Amino acid sequence: MNVLVIGSGAREHALCRSLSLDPAVTALHCAPGNAGIAEVAELHRVDPLDGAAVAALARELGSELVVVGPEAPLVAGVADAVRAAGIPAFGPSGEAAQLEGSKAFAKDVMAAAGVPTARSYVCTTDEEVAAALDAFGAPYVVKDDGLAAGKGVVVTGDLEAAEAHASACLGTSSSASGQGGRVVVEEYLDGPEVSLFAVTDGETVLPLQPAQDFKRALDGDEGPNTGGMGAYSPLPWADPELVEEVLRTVLQPTVDELRRRGTPFSGLLYAGLAITGRGVRVIEFNARFGDPETQVVLARLRTPLAALLSAAATGRLAELEPLRWSEDAAVTVVVASHNYPGTPRTGDPITGLDEVAAQDAPHAYVLHAGTRRDGEAVVSAGGRVLSVTATGKDLAEARDRAYAAVSRIGLDGSQHRTDIAAKAAAQA
Ligand code: AMP
Ligand code: GLY
Repeated sequence: MNVLVIGSGAREHALCRSLSLDPAVTALHCAPGNAGIAEVAELHRVDPLDGAAVAALARELGSELVVVGPEAPLVAGVADAVRAAGIPAFGPSGEAAQLEGSKAFAKDVMAAAGVPTARSYVCTTDEEVAAALDAFGAPYVVKDDGLAAGKGVVVTGDLEAAEAHASACLGTSSSASGQGGRVVVEEYLDGPEVSLFAVTDGETVLPLQPAQDFKRALDGDEGPNTGGMGAYSPLPWADPELVEEVLRTVLQPTVDELRRRGTPFSGLLYAGLAITGRGVRVIEFNARFGDPETQVVLARLRTPLAALLSAAATGRLAELEPLRWSEDAAVTVVVASHNYPGTPRTGDPITGLDEVAAQDAPHAYVLHAGTRRDGEAVVSAGGRVLSVTATGKDLAEARDRAYAAVSRIGLDGSQHRTDIAAKAAAQA
């Protein structure tokens, strides 16, 4: 199978790595990619948001499957453009991707489908915001309605900070759906978070193994929200029935509701969940693989990836055999640039990549996010730079291996959390 992957993050490197290990994949292309992906796939220049250009590239390459990684191209309808050209695409339509593109749309779908989530108000004025904040009380949760790369959410005990974030969103929101100027204020959900992915063709829903992400920038869950600073899987503390329960109460009803509305969702449905004292609640939906959770989930998936994604893209998931999983645990530690999640410093050389390949493989490996080649050197090119990923017989071993590899990496001014999977490894 000839496969084209769209995107340039560590998630896409993880996807490309798994696809490159699948014997069914005879040609692997990625656009635009990064310095690490270039080692497993042929890179192409294309604007990932330009559906016509992506479709033209796929046709020229003879691709039989296009996998759209990030949310922005999905919301922009890139998967639609590929399908319109007669090529199977893994990823929802622009309309169905509104599940991620608009938090207000997601809340509406959940209400219609009876999916448990935080109570919320969609506000368009400062007065409505003030009333909603007052109704729920502290801690306050204020969310930009549109796409914000994980940074549009403020959770705070400080009323003024909550109001300031809401005003900023109302004034400046650049919602990709064109419905800017809305903000969602919702009830605070207490309890550990779980990311559960499901592959779906719009009808059949196949959940993957759950993972946990670390959203805050600093150790001990301090500091600002980020796109994600690390992840691990499996979750030794989670109820073994969790996946079945979320399939029944969240994933299947959501997929059924979108099909009923005439906007079927195919691709990857990501449920961000809070396990509260009153049961499971959806924090958010995403319309694509999570980053960095994908790095640990795919590290454990034994079913060949191309067959799975292709079955979803062509409406044949019901025919697929049950997914197979490794018994191993996996841990990913994100190495980020100086100042991330603010405006990151880029262009710094990265050292130690060869040492990790020589000393830590195959149990630990480096997936690239914001990197590019500069002559012989690999240099930083974004906020999250690397996802250092390792597997082991348990979380403690995977964690030790990941941090041993991280210690070999040199990147001036870089930052990483030192507590990824620490609590879970101690519990297991
Ligand atoms: P989101 O972009 O909606 O996933 O929000 C980013 C992060 O903010 C989540 O992973 C949570 O850690 C936090 N968060 C979002 N909504 C809530 C909520 N209702 N209660 C508590 N924390 C939340
Ligand atoms: N790691 C969170 C996300 O991908 O949205």
